[in-house]
Amino acid sequence: MSAVRKPSVLDVLSGQRCETPPVWLMRQAGRYLPEYRELRASVKSFLDLCFTPRLAAEVTLQPIRRFGFDAAILFSDILVVPHALGQTVTFTAGEGPVLEPKIDASTVARLKTPLDRTALAPVYETIERVRKELPPHVTLLGFCGAPWTVATYMVAGRGTPDQAPARLLAYRDPATFRRLIDILVEASSDYLVAQFAAGVDAVQVFDTWAGVLGGEEFDRWCIEPMRRIVANVRRQVPGAKIIGFPRGAGTSLARYVEGVEVDAVGLDWMIDRAFAREHIQSRRPVQGNLDPLVLLAGGAALDRAVDEVLEAFAAKPFIFNLGHGILPETPIAHVERMLARVRR
Ligand code: CP3
Repeated sequence: MSAVRKPSVLDVLSGQRCETPPVWLMRQAGRYLPEYRELRASVKSFLDLCFTPRLAAEVTLQPIRRFGFDAAILFSDILVVPHALGQTVTFTAGEGPVLEPKIDASTVARLKTPLDRTALAPVYETIERVRKELPPHVTLLGFCGAPWTVATYMVAGRGTPDQAPARLLAYRDPATFRRLIDILVEASSDYLVAQFAAGVDAVQVFDTWAGVLGGEEFDRWCIEPMRRIVANVRRQVPGAKIIGFPRGAGTSLARYVEGVEVDAVGLDWMIDRAFAREHIQSRRPVQGNLDPLVLLAGGAALDRAVDEVLEAFAAKPFIFNLGHGILPETPIAHVERMLARVRR
């Protein structure tokens, strides 16, 4: 297969291989960067940062300036969608997100649907600002959470170790849970379409909690809603480039690529690489899957792990990334070392 010379995330999403794989990192804007921590300290709350376009654009650009990543990801959060639907979201230091009221049969009816465009207008303005400042070869990525993952936070009102509250609601009261998923399919589709209109080149849909769903439930709450989002978005944005990241899906990932027309699949660090090459990369470009912990560890272990990822996936269309978000304690020198090795 002929290869593109310059690394480009967008080229890989079109099915081309780059001689040097393009690279970006999930959560590349964030607490491991001193310039982020400084800016973060100047605002009252995390959501204020997300909803102040000048600052959100600055934070989006920080890792591009420092490392020259091949993609910038919009600085925001997956939980701005429940916030826009009328569920109050707050982030407390050390505790993570808190959402009120929790979603059940009575509160689901009070969600403000369809998604109010003006509620997320600052996000679209952030995209416009970043677009103007971004070098042309850098891909601008928008994103949202997948309905299942967003629903797990909406139902539990917070993150939990296994997101059991949402799984329980889906078993006990499937009609209510279905209603919530349907609301999120529509809201997420509208949100992504608006991000494309504002100037993103591609989007990633994060299904962080896909791995807690068993066979049938995975098809029902992960594959099916995602299939509808992809169809909705492409109806309004023909050819829209979409990356799916169903974390922890394991062997169910084979059904995911069969059922969902994503342009690339994000691989977590737990997946068997031989399986991923044979069953996933044979059908779609893949992205991933360095263990965030080995990036934190650094040294010879990091070098070896980078080589293993490249050996597994770089012969075909591939975007180098982590298998989940970068950890806040990660030394910057380790990111530089990783980049030098990928680009050597
Ligand atoms: O750089 C980027 O990747 C863009 C920004 C981004 C954030 N969150 C910023 C953020 C993105 C793409 C996300 C996605 C997100 N948010 C996911 C899916 C991906 C994943 O990591 O699993 C999820 C599940 C969330 C929900 C969320 N946001 C939680 C559970 C938390 C608390 C835990 C934590 O990491 O602090 C957040 C907060 C959050 N989102 C921070 C950042 C930079 C930290 C808050 C701060 O700086 O005060």
